Amino acid sequence: MRIFSLANNKGGVTKTTTTVNLGYGLARAGRRVLIIDTDAQSNSTYSLLGHLDQEPTLFDVLINGVKITDAIVPTQQENLFLVPSSINLSAADLLMASAAGRERKLARAISTVKDFDYILIDTPPNLGVLTVNAFMACTDVIIPIALTTYALIGIGILESTMQELRENLDVELPIFGVVANLDDHTRLSTDVLAAVRDHFAGKVFDTVIPRNIKVEEAHNQIACLFDYAPASTGAQAYSKLVQEVLHRAEGA
Ligand SMILES: Nc1ncnc2c1ncn2[C@@H]1O[C@H](COP(=O)(O)OP(=O)(O)OP(=O)(O)O)[C@@H](O)[C@H]1O
Ligand SMILES: [Mg+2]
Repeated sequence: MRIFSLANNKGGVTKTTTTVNLGYGLARAGRRVLIIDTDAQSNSTYSLLGHLDQEPTLFDVLINGVKITDAIVPTQQENLFLVPSSINLSAADLLMASAAGRERKLARAISTVKDFDYILIDTPPNLGVLTVNAFMACTDVIIPIALTTYALIGIGILESTMQELRENLDVELPIFGVVANLDDHTRLSTDVLAAVRDHFAGKVFDTVIPRNIKVEEAHNQIACLFDYAPASTGAQAYSKLVQEVLHRAEGA
């Protein structure tokens, strides 16, 4: 079972969009996939369920001792399942501050989950206790990066946090890949992509996701991008990315 944390402490860099579309794509390729939403904003929960009333949520798993298997719900896509988030996760940093073993609560919960090929963990735009839990629970990290000004500012904080966890909490935390996103074919995008490829050497996926309104529309309409606008540049790029992920993960 491969467990990917999609993480970048910068906000709005397509962590959620990439989590959801990879989830759909891997599920449609026949893999059993579980998305875990660790962000109190609950964007991936809303995008997959169309509402935020589902209970129990990840909050109940981390704070109230509910079994994670009791929080897993199906989505409209065969093979794609979700552990939903909720707004009360925004108090997790405070509520978990003095809990023993607080960094490994999600890892312990996930150790009871069987029968999935991939788990994708969507994380919040900060390096608080929930992102640290995602890092401690995953086998690999996927870093989505928006090809806009300042794309690499803040990456140093992400990298040094990951390095600190490797050294102090005995976790491997390899970078599985970097997804370049929101390419609008401007000089700026091209320059930033070159800088990102330079910084992350061979880790950046060949597929670059373009800025494409269909991606945002599908997300807002609780639709699967691959059904909503299959011929769009966004859907085609995400299909290619799914193939690259399968190739890297399975040699397929
Ligand atoms: N390829 C794309 N083309 C156009 N818009 C996109 C694309 N990918 C994502 N978006 C839009 O960009 C915005 C930010 O994306 P998203 O919510 O996935 O980022 P995030 O990193 O999860 O944000 P946060 O840090 O708030 O959790 C959203 O409105 C989303 O619909
Ligand atoms: Mg998000």
